[in-house]
Amino acid sequence: MNITVEQGAIQEVSSELIVVNLFEGVTTPGGATGAVDRALGGAITELIAAGDFKGKAEETAVFYTRGAIPARRVLLVGLGAQDKFDLDVVRRASASAARAALKLGVTAYHSIVHGGGAGGLALGQAAQAVVEGTVLGSYTFTEHKTEKKDLTPPLEGLTLVQFDASALPAVQRGAHVGQVVAEAACFARDLSNKPGNYLTPTLLAETAEQMAQEAGLRFQVLEESDMAELGMGALLGVAQGSQEPAKFIILEHNAERKDLDTYVIVGKGITFDSGGISLKPSEGMGAMKDDMSGAGVTLAVLRAVAALGLPLHVVGLAPATENLPGGRAYKPGDVLESMSGLTIEVISTDAEGRLILADALHYARRYEPKAVVDLATLTGACVVALGHVACGLMSKDEPLTEALRRASAVSGEKVWPLPLYDEYAEQIKSDVADLMNSGGRPAGSITAGLFLSRFAEGYPWAHLDIAGTAWAEKEQGYTPKGGTGFGVRLLVQWLRDVAARGEGA
Ligand code: BES
Ligand code: MN
Ligand code: ZN
Repeated sequence: MNITVEQGAIQEVSSELIVVNLFEGVTTPGGATGAVDRALGGAITELIAAGDFKGKAEETAVFYTRGAIPARRVLLVGLGAQDKFDLDVVRRASASAARAALKLGVTAYHSIVHGGGAGGLALGQAAQAVVEGTVLGSYTFTEHKTEKKDLTPPLEGLTLVQFDASALPAVQRGAHVGQVVAEAACFARDLSNKPGNYLTPTLLAETAEQMAQEAGLRFQVLEESDMAELGMGALLGVAQGSQEPAKFIILEHNAERKDLDTYVIVGKGITFDSGGISLKPSEGMGAMKDDMSGAGVTLAVLRAVAALGLPLHVVGLAPATENLPGGRAYKPGDVLESMSGLTIEVISTDAEGRLILADALHYARRYEPKAVVDLATLTGACVVALGHVACGLMSKDEPLTEALRRASAVSGEKVWPLPLYDEYAEQIKSDVADLMNSGGRPAGSITAGLFLSRFAEGYPWAHLDIAGTAWAEKEQGYTPKGGTGFGVRLLVQWLRDVAARGEGA
């Protein structure tokens, strides 16, 4: 999508469609909306007076200007109650406007920066949110549709119109960040949405390599022989049941810069999770094509930090394999020796995510990182606890937890802490090995987090269980059905904060 910023008065812009806004309860619109209303002879005021537009969040109405102003159509979008207004409302309103425009067949339009005026938001952040909402809200995944005529055309252009010339640089910068971050999230969505036969570990590694070339990232991949040499017995154990070779993807931004602090993102890359010998029920099993969402987000975060040129050394690690049953598959009762040396008794082959992450988290030590954050669609228990609204956040590091919570508030991607109390660790003690890979049903997300904590030693670490937030069952706000890219905006915001203020470690 082509996104530009221009200085001017929106009522003077020549366009197929211009977007202005209205808060709930306002009877006489002000600012840009007021200017458009006056130019249209009070058409917006009359719509409100008739009770036909309340200004509720995401509500839309279309006007045809019939030559009163250069634009052909005006799209009015509601911003909801003023006391509930924030950046996320801007994203939702912008998504709603984008979808309304596309329904009209308009693929390029002009918009004011919602929230900059009466909304009281910083203009740069508001512009970022408008772009994010627009890009994320108009996303579709159509790669496997052959009958293209039934599909809504993609959005091609958005121009932000800013009246106050002195605010132009902030709006431009915000729009740029918004575009980079939102397009990265769409890249992650594409990966989650891809069927397992179109995204094997090999194809994921190829996608990462191509993206790395375009973004200017260093790319490496460890093959199964490399993993064996390193002693990654946990990852290789999971990979045993599949004909597809496992891949351990490594991406680096600013790889050559030894002067910069290092931050590592680790993502679970199970390209399909059947459960293995501990086979999942067949109903709904297809949903497990998204079990590589943590890896997809990791690739996307690296792509974004490269595009933004963050002055940090950022490493992305994505262990990738299928989890399938078969004659050579690992079995319940098996004992695996992880790279760290810790041995693991396999209770369930369906608790595979923590096994591949164990080796990746241990591998992360070699970078002497200031912090490591992993993302994983790790436990059904997290879906039970937090639903599809917030991901689980587990960490023993207070400053890192606080930094992630601040980034969450800005990005709108919700995180909620779950405790890693030592008492829970009793549940994953094994009689025959150092650890068991399942602690049973009680506190299932926490025992998974505690399992990971045994391999994340020597650096500040946080774990995000995105099992409930990686996939949307229904469209909501700027999130269409399907892969959500959850975590990209959160982690890019966190890394931008770290780069700007030296926080987070
Ligand atoms: N990928 C699943 C977790 C999952 C479940 C994600 C539902 C999204 C929706 C994971 O590998 C898994 O199967 N976890 C098991 C762990 C159990 C065997 C200890 C689970 O949650 O049932
Ligand atoms: Mn599983
Ligand atoms: Zn899984």
